[in-house]
Amino acid sequence: MNLTVYNNKKLKGEITIPADKSISHRAIIFASLAKGKSVIENFSFAKDPQSSLNVCKNLGVDVYRDNERLIVDSKGFFKSCSQNLDCGNSGTTMRLMAGVLAAQNFDATLSGDDSLSKRPMKRIIVPLSLMGANIVSNNFYAPLNIKAANLHAIDYDSPIASAQVKSCILLAGLYSDGITTYKEPYLSRNHTEIMLSYMGANISYNNGIISIRRSELKPLSIKIFGDISSAAFFIVAALIVPNSEIIIKNIGLNDTRSGILKVIENMGACYEVLDKRDVCGESVGDIKIAYCENLKGCEISGGVIPTLIDEIPVIALLASQAEGKTIIKDAQDLRNKESDRIKTTVSELNKLGINIKETNDGMVIEGKTIISGGVEVETYKDHRLAMTLYVAGLIAKKEIMIRDFEWVNISFPEFEKLMLSLLQ
Ligand code: S3P
Repeated sequence: MNLTVYNNKKLKGEITIPADKSISHRAIIFASLAKGKSVIENFSFAKDPQSSLNVCKNLGVDVYRDNERLIVDSKGFFKSCSQNLDCGNSGTTMRLMAGVLAAQNFDATLSGDDSLSKRPMKRIIVPLSLMGANIVSNNFYAPLNIKAANLHAIDYDSPIASAQVKSCILLAGLYSDGITTYKEPYLSRNHTEIMLSYMGANISYNNGIISIRRSELKPLSIKIFGDISSAAFFIVAALIVPNSEIIIKNIGLNDTRSGILKVIENMGACYEVLDKRDVCGESVGDIKIAYCENLKGCEISGGVIPTLIDEIPVIALLASQAEGKTIIKDAQDLRNKESDRIKTTVSELNKLGINIKETNDGMVIEGKTIISGGVEVETYKDHRLAMTLYVAGLIAKKEIMIRDFEWVNISFPEFEKLMLSLLQ
């Protein structure tokens, strides 16, 4: 589906962002591992979390809807499944499930779409193998044929700050003999640690080291809050479309996810957090944000990168509307996402007239640019690039046509409807 976006006047009003994708994956997978009935309210029905849901169902877990709630009725373990377990486009499904399946007493195969089959799995196969896992892969790419095995604990010093790798090893550690410890170069999103601890797992965090040992999980009861990675498109739209002012309600504000807020603050933007509260150990609040005329470029690097990794395409767009240079570095793992997000972001924002250059581990953007538009752009089957281009279209001088916009459904099917509800 191709979509044309026209320059718009302003964003005004209030929206509630749909459920967090990372939390939805974890809620369905962890609830499936807990004996008893878990209740998940506001589960995300975007395609990626649906992949996790389907994989858990195919492994014998009873999941049904009761009005707006998802009930997960589990015996506390998975049953074998003779078919491939299809993870679709979802790296989170494949990497987290690999950790669980590596420790089962049956074989299982995880497969994915073309894009997922090109994403690196060595990062999980190496540590899982050190724990005793037996995984046959296509030269370290999916499909992953995971054989039955008994795992033992390891002390793992991860070369990358990746929450998917971390979660994979912690889940394997939940089924291993001994105490597994995990260290990462920078703290990546810690939803797994928070949710497992909330569900009674024997897990702790001290001086940058996470320790976990075999534990039984208690059923989960959660009302999932909104996804800051989805909110990011509205935050940037409000900041760059003149005369905008919006309130975005019920967003997860965990420090390990909300690096975009630090960045916009460094760039000189003002925003307010209203009604800050706690939901199952996670911090949640509403954000009030308005157009900002005097944004300044900044450097984005080091420990903040994992806390905004999925927001970099839209932050690059924001930087094009700030005075001066913005340098994004230490973000080489962007090349391993749903597309090579360094290459694809630079190429498509360039087409719109933005002054942006690729570097090995990031990009350099010179602002302030007028976005000329009047062109067709590609999404490269990447949901976050699709939404970034839509937001760019709101301030382009001429309309832009985005090809294959339907990839937005991977994380945020409600995106356009919500955006239209604010534009006036
Ligand atoms: C995710 C972790 C991140 C992120 C992805 C979701 C998660 O990936 O890019 O969209 O839910 O754990 P990495 O762990 O590979 O950085």
